[in-house]
Amino acid sequence: MSTPPSVYPVPEALAAQAAIGRGDYERLYDESVRDPDAFWARAAQRLQWMQVPTQIRDVSFALEDFRIRWYGDGELNASVNCLDRHLHTRGDKTAILWEGDDPATPPRHVSYRELHARVCRLANALRSLGVRKGDRVTIYLPMIVESAVAMLACARVGAVHTVVFGGFSPASIADRVADCGSKLIITADEGLRGGRRIPLKANVDAALKLPGTNSVETVLVVRHTGGAVGMQMPRDRWYDAVVDDQPDTCEPERMNAEDPLFILYTSGSTGKPKGVLHTTGGYLVFASYTHEAVFDLREDDVYWCTADVGWVTGHSYIVYGPLANGATSLMFEGVPNYPSVSRFWEVVDRHKVSIFYTAPTAIRALMRDGDAPVKSSSRASLRILGTVGEPINPEAWRWYHGVVGDGRCPVVDTWWQTETGGILIAPLPGAIDAKPGSATRPFFGVQPAIVDAQGTVLEGEAEGNLVILDSWPGQMRTVYGDHQRFIDTYFSAYPGSYFTGDGCRRDADGDYWITGRVDDVINVSGHRIGTAEVESALVSHPKVAEAAVVGFPHDIKGQGIYAYVTLVAGEEGTDALLKELVAHVRGEIGPIATPDHLQWAPGLPKTRSGKIMRRILRKIAENAPDQLGDTTTLADPSVVESLLRERRGAA
Ligand code: WTA
Repeated sequence: MSTPPSVYPVPEALAAQAAIGRGDYERLYDESVRDPDAFWARAAQRLQWMQVPTQIRDVSFALEDFRIRWYGDGELNASVNCLDRHLHTRGDKTAILWEGDDPATPPRHVSYRELHARVCRLANALRSLGVRKGDRVTIYLPMIVESAVAMLACARVGAVHTVVFGGFSPASIADRVADCGSKLIITADEGLRGGRRIPLKANVDAALKLPGTNSVETVLVVRHTGGAVGMQMPRDRWYDAVVDDQPDTCEPERMNAEDPLFILYTSGSTGKPKGVLHTTGGYLVFASYTHEAVFDLREDDVYWCTADVGWVTGHSYIVYGPLANGATSLMFEGVPNYPSVSRFWEVVDRHKVSIFYTAPTAIRALMRDGDAPVKSSSRASLRILGTVGEPINPEAWRWYHGVVGDGRCPVVDTWWQTETGGILIAPLPGAIDAKPGSATRPFFGVQPAIVDAQGTVLEGEAEGNLVILDSWPGQMRTVYGDHQRFIDTYFSAYPGSYFTGDGCRRDADGDYWITGRVDDVINVSGHRIGTAEVESALVSHPKVAEAAVVGFPHDIKGQGIYAYVTLVAGEEGTDALLKELVAHVRGEIGPIATPDHLQWAPGLPKTRSGKIMRRILRKIAENAPDQLGDTTTLADPSVVESLLRERRGAA
């Protein structure tokens, strides 16, 4: 067998047609870092401002003089940019193309005009319910058009939305509501995924019984499945009853560029999830610009990002980026394998999708079912393929390119984070040759660097931790309610630069290869889970004395969750208790945090100062006992032997 290519050059036709072609990248990148003020002033012209900014950037990552401000004197409204601005030229164009969980449900084409009216009606309803600029609104909805309507209606009245993924448990909803003091929650009776009903309203009811949630005055409930729900008056209101009769125009709030647009909670290496706060102007410039450039967007594209709006990918690349660009954004309620593993490709054919953006975990899962379920579809409409969320292994990349894209479509591997607001490293498809497994080159204005453990910036071919040396407009501005935590988490490890938490290699050509998290964050199917969160869920069970959680390599999920549990004295590690603990974690956090393995640990490996040695636990979880490394600092080496014996017994 011949070795597969390691470089996939830009197709000639695309290099000629793309808005950013070969040669343009170097020139624009160079300008963007040489004169960022001029570059980003020009980029801001892509938006419609109520007050055009004259101050472009005001940034210092230095701890003693820390600030990040973009377009500081600009004023705009994000919903106007995503809706009103398109009414003249694209009023009848489909803004959101909705495809339901069940293929028999008729798809819906929501035009820019209709979306505008729906957003205005909800915005008026929110105002009538007392929601004002700066108030927080929690959105806990399935993948239905109302989720985009809700986000944009909040933006219209200046409320700060915080979307909670529908897979999170009542306890997780309550934590988030309590942290930001939400005044109102928008939810639905039930969600629908792969034919299963998700009790969203019941989860909200359970969440609002938990402490810290009494800031919530109103719960708006969308009728989606028609499933029975309990309504607690006057708190709970049917969405249609409150919204449908509202006027379909609504005066947008004037927002400063640095006014908050949304908060999105994400897991870090310590403590509870952080409220990542994004502001209006810089975020929208960056989300829309990256969306247009990275996917080589054209007016007639049908663009489909398979993420959920509960994650940042859904915020930037289902709602804000595509709609600010006047694109047609497909929103899919379902899952890749329902009713069959051909579903993605059937949807692509049905709606003539031209740009398709998904996660490596989905690609790996579908690849396992072989080529036939893909080959049974045409996919002739596809033009560009994208991936996001975790490192993509070259085998999966090649399958995506060769089988899904029939070898015709460039694959853009996009590296970014909730914190970055938009894509920071990716091969622009008309300009940069792709390499399976590499996100390749930084977007305009983004200055990545690789540092060693001491913080020394490494030049040329190098491997180490990935930092970003200067700000970009889509950067998060703070951790909601805890600015010091923002600075400590991201700017103190390598003073003067933003620390990403990722490891990275740069090859001899200058291309970047992300190697994965270097902190205590596990990336399960592209979802970030903090080991500390799972540990605290476990120890909140009365029978658990101590727990340590690590990630381990998983064929489909990328990483799986491996938990070591020490029980309180006198308790026995039975199968029934094991099931109970797994269910307990699901209840505390949600199904996405379900441990894949749980091992009873009579003791945990600790240093003499009592610090758990996760490095060793990771190697035991990987079943690599010969790679334990230095164990001389262990307080009690026999602990490791007993864990290894258990692990082997289990394998
Ligand atoms: C990982 C998702 C390799 C990375 C947008 C990052 C990736 C974390 C890639 C952020 C990629 C995301 N290649 N790793 N193309 N994209 N990651 O906040 O570890 O949910 O730090 O944002 O996902 O996950 P988050």
